[in-house]
Amino acid sequence: MASNRGLVYMGPGKVEVQSIDFPKLALGNRKCDHGVILKIVSTNICGSDQHMVRGRTTAPRGLVLGHEITGEVIEAGRDVEFIKVGDLVSVPFNIACGRCRNCKERKTGICLNVNPARAGAAYGYVDMGGWVGGQAEYVMVPYADFNLLKFPNKAQAMEKIRDLTCLSDILPTGYHGAVTAGVGTGSIVYVAGAGPVGLACAAACHLLGAACVIVGDLNPERLAQARSFGCETVDVSKSASIAEQIEAIVGQPEVDCAVDCVGFEARGHGSEAQKEVPAAVLNSLMEITRAGGALGIPGLYVTEDPGASDDKAKFGNLSIRLGLGWAKSHYFTTGQCPVMKYNRELMMAILYDKIEIAKAVNVTVITLDEGPQGYKDFDKGAAKKFVIDPHRSFSRN
Ligand SMILES: NC(=O)c1ccc[n+]([C@@H]2O[C@H](COP(=O)([O-])OP(=O)(O)OC[C@H]3O[C@@H](n4cnc5c(N)ncnc54)[C@H](O)[C@@H]3O)[C@@H](O)[C@H]2O)c1
Ligand SMILES: [Zn+2]
Ligand SMILES: [Zn+2]
Repeated sequence: MASNRGLVYMGPGKVEVQSIDFPKLALGNRKCDHGVILKIVSTNICGSDQHMVRGRTTAPRGLVLGHEITGEVIEAGRDVEFIKVGDLVSVPFNIACGRCRNCKERKTGICLNVNPARAGAAYGYVDMGGWVGGQAEYVMVPYADFNLLKFPNKAQAMEKIRDLTCLSDILPTGYHGAVTAGVGTGSIVYVAGAGPVGLACAAACHLLGAACVIVGDLNPERLAQARSFGCETVDVSKSASIAEQIEAIVGQPEVDCAVDCVGFEARGHGSEAQKEVPAAVLNSLMEITRAGGALGIPGLYVTEDPGASDDKAKFGNLSIRLGLGWAKSHYFTTGQCPVMKYNRELMMAILYDKIEIAKAVNVTVITLDEGPQGYKDFDKGAAKKFVIDPHRSFSRN
């Protein structure tokens, strides 16, 4: 039988390259004749993986990581009609059946049929249905006709693979954050977090026509990366408040729209920047967003956080000043990004040079064997989006 290798979570701070099973068109007893086997062309490391690798979730040891997958179809199940062997495809990180009530409403992040424990599933992720991850050489993708986005021209796609690899998660996620925060022509936007999702969100805001995009973080290298493509920046660790720093940029202490691209491991602001304050971003976004504005919240919040500093946060209870948001009639959108809602349009924006996403997030290509080091560097805050090329299909030189 053909071999396979992948990145496996082996406990807090430990990721190893291991031999893993070659994928089958099945998940346990569940037959997946609607699935395909992909030879993986590119697969990215994500901040969402870091929550697990830092021991901040209940992820079990032995979990094969990876939900940001682009690949070539090498085998198609009996029930796959329209996707063909040889197709080059982007895989939305959400697994969706295409048949349930939520999928029919394009809410593919909360499919009802792919995870017995709760709504919504993903590859290689804790509590997300047990589907095997794709930071590997090969992976199985179920419901292939529904899930996969086929690139129209393989040769052209390989030339832009560093950009197209961002379609499986961060670009749609950043875009979703912006859209749900109401970003449009002329908007003044604050994006919290200059990790890959925050930078993708900032690039998406430009694509949507925002007048001014202000990115906040406390990592100087990542803030410099945000400035490299035309964003203004706020250093949240400074003694000047976020509102004061925004006022210095746009002449008023409020923005039209705000997006949380940080999540529950948020650091505090100003003198509290050295410690975690899980609700810091949510509360600051309510403070700086105009009355009537919206907050997009793609940053991840968990139901269980064994590493939380206080007992309430261990179960996802955060101290949110909802009264402030209520007084300003804010509305907000949380949850997994339903990637399929946006990936085709964003693919066209990439293919027609309307967005330079690889440059914005500083895509850095590594081998599968360099994966564990990639995790370490990313954890230290490198201003890079690590993309693994497991077969050296495009980075060999
Ligand atoms: N909703 C979705 O579908 C979805 C998809 C992908 C990622 N995510 C989540 O989005 C978040 C960001 O992902 P990423 O890959 O960019 O992660 P990341 O960890 O690389 O980036 C987070 C950044 O936030 C910064 N930060 C911490 N506290 C801050 C604060 N108070 N204000 C401003 N910045 C602060 C950190 O320094 C870091 O640079 C994660 O929580 C991830 O799980 C959600
Ligand atoms: Zn991701
Ligand atoms: Zn479904």
